Amino acid sequence: MNRKLAVTLIALVVAVAFAGTMTFTFAGTPPETIVIDKAKNKKPGVTFPHKEHSERISCETCHHTAKTPEEAESCFACHGKEPDIPDPSAMSAKKNPFHLTCKVCHSDLKKQGEATGPTKCKDCHNAE
Ligand code: HEC
Ligand code: HEC
Ligand code: HEC
Ligand code: HEC
Repeated sequence: MNRKLAVTLIALVVAVAFAGTMTFTFAGTPPETIVIDKAKNKKPGVTFPHKEHSERISCETCHHTAKTPEEAESCFACHGKEPDIPDPSAMSAKKNPFHLTCKVCHSDLKKQGEATGPTKCKDCHNAE
């Protein structure tokens, strides 16, 4: 193999590997804080400290359809799109998928006397 070709090939391999890493990092890096406010016409939005949660709770606990962290995506990719998948902005508070995820975990931990997040309406629904 001539030297010029070898150098070109190495550069190509490095470029591909780098692009691969970047895509991976982007897809697997969860946002730090998210304001969930699709239903703000009914109730003020919720400021969700995503990073704090994803550091201690496994991704699949909330992203229940993801088999790997890279597969985690917005809940709204499915919820609200199909008639048989609960729509967070059109549900009773008891069946709201966010209440079932967020509120139920916080309340359970509270009952067990563990450190937990808010369980009162206005402590979650506090975004402008
Ligand atoms: C642990 C956090 C949390 C607590 C506590 C909480 N909520 Fe929510 N709630 C959410 C999230 C997240 C959403 C989705 C917000 C959106 O899509 O805009 C939501 C959505 C809603 C909605 C709009 C959708 C629907 O179901 O109609 C209403 C109304 C609502 N909550 C009422 C309440 C009431 C009343 C309480 C107290 C009894 C309460 N929430 C407590 C997190 C919480
Ligand atoms: C306590 C629940 C919870 C945990 C744990 C969690 N997430 Fe999330 N994640 C959410 C919620 C809620 C949203 C935003 C809701 C929405 O906009 O659909 C979100 C949004 C995301 C998004 C952005 C989707 C978009 O397109 O806006 C990515 C990416 C993501 N999470 C990845 C992860 C990864 C990777 C982990 C594990 C390291 C993780 N999440 C852990 C609840 C969680
Ligand atoms: C790939 C599609 C998809 C994504 C993304 C998704 N869900 Fe779901 N979810 C479903 C389907 C389908 C159901 C109904 C069947 C079932 O229970 O598995 C469901 C059901 C639920 C339920 C149970 C509702 C009930 O009435 O018992 C909760 C809670 C829930 N999802 C929360 C979430 C949260 C929170 C997120 C984002 C962090 C999310 N889902 C992302 C497809 C999805
Ligand atoms: C599986 C359990 C679990 C789920 C699911 C969960 N949380 Fe939490 N949450 C916690 C724990 C544990 C803490 C931290 C308690 C501590 O150490 O301060 C917390 C803390 C919080 C805090 C307070 C953070 C602070 O710095 O004061 C908010 C706000 C919060 N959660 C909102 C949410 C919302 C909104 C959702 C749903 C999208 C959610 N949580 C889902 C367990 C959970």
